Amino acid sequence: MVRRILLYGNPLLRSSARSVEKISPELLSLMDDLLNTMIKRDGIGLAANQIGETVAVFAINPQAADVDAPPTCIINPRIITNEGTVEAEEGCLSFPDIYEVIPRPEMVKIKGVNREGKEIELTATGLLARAIVHEIEHLQGVLFIDHLSELRRRLLTPRLKELEELERKGCE
Ligand code: CO
Repeated sequence: MVRRILLYGNPLLRSSARSVEKISPELLSLMDDLLNTMIKRDGIGLAANQIGETVAVFAINPQAADVDAPPTCIINPRIITNEGTVEAEEGCLSFPDIYEVIPRPEMVKIKGVNREGKEIELTATGLLARAIVHEIEHLQGVLFIDHLSELRRRLLTPRLKELEELERKGCE
């Protein structure tokens, strides 16, 4: 099912996700929804709390970052190491039409669990590393605008207020 993506202002975007203890049918269905919603909305990644579920899982689409691997979900992700810093423009499906330059690691290595319940390790660079770190932060209630300078953030305030208003009305 394609789900509605919560916009900035929804308190669930500021919630920390709880760890997954077992791969239940509900979790499998949530992962299908995450993948379908991410693909429908042309996202590189999507975290569960963006569709209103505070569970530690995110979807990622490596192909959207020019990496030849199928879209997948990663459960209980954690960063093992990261290297370098690169600044680039970044957006978020919960912040339509807002793009800001944010520093992120150039390389990241993470561990997590796949759909089959197996522990996996993943190394990514560039845009894919950026997207993975962005999604892991979502699961901690951290948003990309939190990395902006006070000035950039102040310049964005009118647009953020509009998003909060849209979210209150439950708009896409
Ligand atoms: Co996002």
